[in-house]
Amino acid sequence: MTKRLVLPLCQESRTFPRGAALPAGTSRMAARALGERAFKGEVGEALLLVSPEAGEADSLVLLGLGPQKKLTLEVLRRALGTLARRARKEGVAELEVALDPPWLRAGLEALGWEQVGKAARIASRLGAYGFDAYKTSAKEKRRPPRIAFRSSGLPAAAHRAFQEGAAAGDVVAEAVNLVRDLANTPANDLYPENLAERARIAAREAGVSFRLLGKAELERERMGALLGVAQGSDRSPCMVVLEHKPRGPRPANGPARAGAARRGAKVPTLALVGKAITFDCGGLSIKPSKGMEEMKFDMAGGGAVLGAMTAIGRLRPPVRVVGIVPATENVIGGSAMRPGDILRSASGKTIEVVNTDAEGRLILADALHYARRFQPDYILDFATLTGACLVALGTQVSGLVSNDKGLSRLVFEAGERSGERVWELPLYEEFQEATKSQVADLKNSAGRNGGAITAAAFLSHFVGSTPWCHLDIAGTAWAERDTGPFAAGATGVGVRLICELVETLAQKTGKH
Ligand code: BES
Ligand code: MN
Ligand code: ZN
Repeated sequence: MTKRLVLPLCQESRTFPRGAALPAGTSRMAARALGERAFKGEVGEALLLVSPEAGEADSLVLLGLGPQKKLTLEVLRRALGTLARRARKEGVAELEVALDPPWLRAGLEALGWEQVGKAARIASRLGAYGFDAYKTSAKEKRRPPRIAFRSSGLPAAAHRAFQEGAAAGDVVAEAVNLVRDLANTPANDLYPENLAERARIAAREAGVSFRLLGKAELERERMGALLGVAQGSDRSPCMVVLEHKPRGPRPANGPARAGAARRGAKVPTLALVGKAITFDCGGLSIKPSKGMEEMKFDMAGGGAVLGAMTAIGRLRPPVRVVGIVPATENVIGGSAMRPGDILRSASGKTIEVVNTDAEGRLILADALHYARRFQPDYILDFATLTGACLVALGTQVSGLVSNDKGLSRLVFEAGERSGERVWELPLYEEFQEATKSQVADLKNSAGRNGGAITAAAFLSHFVGSTPWCHLDIAGTAWAERDTGPFAAGATGVGVRLICELVETLAQKTGKH
């Protein structure tokens, strides 16, 4: 059993602060490490000090937070998240992070104790995550380290705020890690039917309503675009619909709910739509085999929506949120759709399939159209939609395309606060040209140039005039290698941003 005390320090600390109760024999070592600059305090830098008297069981870790002036929530998350990830890798059983020492007080206070509690808990739980469900040797199965934060030395109000933030952070982190489990699970064990089953269980536990549209219902809804993609697979497609209905105030556009508390009070409706292709081989426009195995994560957008709905169900914000997840494989069977096929979407618009690998926008077309029946004030969609977005923005920023400046600003800010950053690409009218087909209303691919934007331009045809944001998470949903808090594999991106946005919407309602 290894237990370690962690002391975060900013770069300015050149001598070790007195008054901290340290494991036996480590305080002189700590002072020396600082004096000799063996520890510089850079963000995420960690130095383990083991005293010969006490040994591994009772050791000290100095954790760098960078320069004091640049201490932000994101810096804190990066430092704590990286530490947690390394702790898991090294088999550390327990960490106690002191967040109450006097030398951190001013810096953390400026960030807000509730936010600090939330950020700390989310980062450490994301870092502690690992996917080893398929490892059979005990040696390779690691227990996540238990990470506790010491806030007891804070003034009572600060301590309470910290605890509240930490509790909310737990809910969010658990949702993110659920998404990571789903996206890391290989496609032989995760397909539309059992994805829906897992959604049903998660929804019940979180207190959100669950509805499943099976293949017959998709046919009844004339979802020809979703069904077209599913044609090539032996596994049936489906669509999961989850809903969080706030107690009390009625939804802005919905019917009055029985027992509505405050008469006349309105809550906004947010519709979330997520692409869940449980495996994308490209269909007949087949992908190269190199890296194809990664395409089990092509359901990460749908996963993010499911995950976020579980968090929202638990946090119960005064916002009505509907989560819609169209799910299918994009594989090749004898009846797979062919390039040149023309599909009739639920909206009535016909789509020429120029490239069967541009399947995400097809299933989203029907799901976005379906979302409109909830009369949402806002629609957000999450999708691992284009390789072009990965090329344009890399792996640290999601692409955002929107038809509404006000909403895109809210989403951008939620991204900044949550640490899930987004960057907007323009949806100029001129891009619409690329969505037109010679033979049908629309075509599903316009080639390489501006690929992330033309994909979004295609989607824009299915949201009507509803304020809408499309988030392309092709680059951010998967970590190629261990990075910051994230072990290689699925990142669960989207959940934190959605939760942050919903909180903003809730506050806006409260002010009315
Ligand atoms: N799921 C892929 C996009 C993707 C690529 C996600 C790489 C993550 C990493 C999507 O279905 C796809 O294949 N898009 C095509 C669109 C093209 C045919 C217009 C692409 O990006 O190549
Ligand atoms: Mn594809
Ligand atoms: Zn895809």
